[in-house]
Amino acid sequence: MARWLARLMDAQDGWVQPLGTWAHGLLHRFFHWVPGLRDLLNGRWLGHPVHALLTDAPIGMLFLTIVLDVVGQPVAAEIALGLGVLGMVAAAAAGLADYSDTDGRARDRATLHASVMLVALVIYLASLVLRLTGDPSGAGVIWLSILAFLVLAAGAFVGGDVVYVNGNMVDRHAFRGTGTKWISLEPSETNADGSIPEGKLVRARLGVNTLVLVRDGDRILALHDTCAHAGGPLSGATYADGIVECPWHGSRYRMSNGHVIQGPSVYDQPAYEVRARDGGGWEARRQA
Ligand code: FES
Repeated sequence: MARWLARLMDAQDGWVQPLGTWAHGLLHRFFHWVPGLRDLLNGRWLGHPVHALLTDAPIGMLFLTIVLDVVGQPVAAEIALGLGVLGMVAAAAAGLADYSDTDGRARDRATLHASVMLVALVIYLASLVLRLTGDPSGAGVIWLSILAFLVLAAGAFVGGDVVYVNGNMVDRHAFRGTGTKWISLEPSETNADGSIPEGKLVRARLGVNTLVLVRDGDRILALHDTCAHAGGPLSGATYADGIVECPWHGSRYRMSNGHVIQGPSVYDQPAYEVRARDGGGWEARRQA
């Protein structure tokens, strides 16, 4: 079933990709013009994507609309439908902020998801207008709500694909252990005396992981090289005043502890302690 549905979604690429290129360009410019609003809608303040939270309320409200229609409570159904529509609009705002920094396959799927949700929203609005201007318990408006819910469910399935299959807005370090063992660190570049260059980002191998280091006076600050947002290489980032900025979408992290201080990432970056090893060289371990 999942393979068949994936083929069905792939078959939409002919219109999804050009629409996505256009919509993404527009939204990217808008949200990068108001980074504070983007951070708010992404959920950096919460440490969790806001879109995922906001989708639950409207789906519940809109399902309740069907139940209330079926048991003959048209006024309550109207209220639930109105709240559901408002919830959809709020969820869409958060989703569009995430979308403005989404690339590749995830963007294609997210474009399809947003398009299907827009169709559901238009049908719901039609149902709401008909309820407010005509017979709120008429069969037509009730069937319209049921049709809209089926479209909404299809859109939710595609949205699930964006996250669970394409990993959009999933922490790139979700499965990384928090080992406390000191491990030998191999910087890609050192000064002639073996020290780490001052104020310059340097890649380093730590077992199977790649870190990015910078010397700050006597301290060596280190983060994992893979950006928590979508895997961008922080060793290719810009660095100033103790802050590293990802080259892909501009997430900013504090080098000393990995705290995210600007999205689109909503997750902190794994930070490491670094010390000189007895006998020369360096070793590191993940911060608690
Ligand atoms: S990969 Fe998106 S901000 Fe780093």
